[in-house]
Amino acid sequence: MSQVIRFYEHGGPEVLKLETIDLPPPGPGEVRIHQHAAGLNFIDIYHRNGLYPVPLPSGLGQEGAGVVEAVGDGVTDFKVGDRVAYAGGPIGGYASDRNYPVKNLVKLPDGIGFEQAAAMMLQGLTSQYLLRQTYDVKAGDTILLHAAAGGVGLIATQWAKALGATVIGTVSSQAKADIASAHGCDHVFILSEVDLVKEVKNLTGGQGVPVVYDGIGKDTFMTSLDCLRPRGLMVSFGNASGAVPAFEPSLLAAKGSLYLTRPTLAPHIATRAALDKAAGELFEVVLSGKVKIEVNQRYPLADAAQAQIDLAARKTTGSTVLIPG
Ligand SMILES: NC(=O)c1ccc[n+]([C@@H]2O[C@H](COP(=O)([O-])OP(=O)(O)OC[C@H]3O[C@@H](n4cnc5c(N)ncnc54)[C@H](OP(=O)(O)O)[C@@H]3O)[C@@H](O)[C@H]2O)c1
Repeated sequence: MSQVIRFYEHGGPEVLKLETIDLPPPGPGEVRIHQHAAGLNFIDIYHRNGLYPVPLPSGLGQEGAGVVEAVGDGVTDFKVGDRVAYAGGPIGGYASDRNYPVKNLVKLPDGIGFEQAAAMMLQGLTSQYLLRQTYDVKAGDTILLHAAAGGVGLIATQWAKALGATVIGTVSSQAKADIASAHGCDHVFILSEVDLVKEVKNLTGGQGVPVVYDGIGKDTFMTSLDCLRPRGLMVSFGNASGAVPAFEPSLLAAKGSLYLTRPTLAPHIATRAALDKAAGELFEVVLSGKVKIEVNQRYPLADAAQAQIDLAARKTTGSTVLIPG
């Protein structure tokens, strides 16, 4: 038996239902995981409300951590009792128990707990590819990162600092600014209170930054472009405020021969080698203490709807986990 969150139509948080289901044995290439924690991510909201439609009815959630309780045919690298975690599909992380393909699974090192793992796999692997692959952040770089006190924001801020960068962050309140600063963000601006382009230019000798990491989307996209130096890289990796409207590519020419990418995590961890390398780097920065995973909100699995309401209302900071009852 498993307690799971499911939904039968796209819509608001009220479509989420807690159900008890019979779980079949794990299929070939799968293990059954007894989950101690599941991660809450903004993409779960897009799946629920249909911005990223999923076939219905559906489970929800892309992240979890727990213990292997059964293995399917052909599984040789994982065994009963292994402590494991994952980020990414198949959807269905909001669950007490689930079957999951081992090709997307990693073993947890000693020293990384289940809540910490459920809080960091998706946002941490995202931070890894954003900072180490999409743009290779180096000592001396000054970067701009929106939602610096959020889930990705706090991890990426600390990781960018560990790489030697200067981090300009944006947030929506003084309380969030204080949290971002406490995690090393060098210059934090409350978006609604400043002319961000002017501030960024002031901090970069009039040049602009080489890269902007923008998970907010619609509300910040154009401002972000104007914060870039000529030939800078715009990384539009999310839509917390809504999807970015279509625009003419010639805009990128007019604003300084800019580059634009709209990356997602899945292609960055699509092979065992890529997943192990990225997860290894994530575990290393966390175990070394360079990146602290802040689990600032915990909700019972049954309260997943409330957790999503709070995330969408910008009430959360750092990472959030759902705990099966
Ligand atoms: N492409 C990828 O691979 C990938 C992977 C993971 C996450 N993401 C994206 O990265 C972003 C951050 O994800 P997360 O899970 O770590 O969430 P989060 O940053 O913890 O929460 C989203 C934050 O966005 C800011 N925001 C600005 N305008 C908003 C609005 N209108 N409504 C709600 N929030 C708004 C809020 O911070 P302030 O109040 O400080 O403005 C809010 O706390 C999301 O867009 C997510 O989809 C993308």
